[in-house]
Amino acid sequence: MFLLFCLSVFLCDSFEVSRIPPTSTPPPKRQFSAMDYDKSSNSLLIFGGNQGASSTFNDVWKFSLNDSLWTNLVSTTNTIPSNN
Ligand SMILES: *[C@@H]1O[C@H](CO)[C@@H](O)[C@H](O)[C@H]1NC(C)=O
Repeated sequence: MFLLFCLSVFLCDSFEVSRIPPTSTPPPKRQFSAMDYDKSSNSLLIFGGNQGASSTFNDVWKFSLNDSLWTNLVSTTNTIPSNN
């Protein structure tokens, strides 16, 4: 129990959230997108999402955590992948 308490105090004391300003134009705002972390490039990958029913994204963006740079890897004009 004491160990758990120490661990939680340690984690809370060391946890910090900070805003990372982008160094390039970010993707449009969206909701319901999927995101994953790519360890090899130290980047966040973001796929799809929408701006409501009338505007659905089918794109992939990479945000490099090393240089705060957004890169559009796949544009919205590509066809939607099948479920197979
Ligand atoms: C990102 O930065 C870290 C720390 O400086 C470095 O070890 C790593 O190689 C870098 N990754 C890339 C993909 O540049």
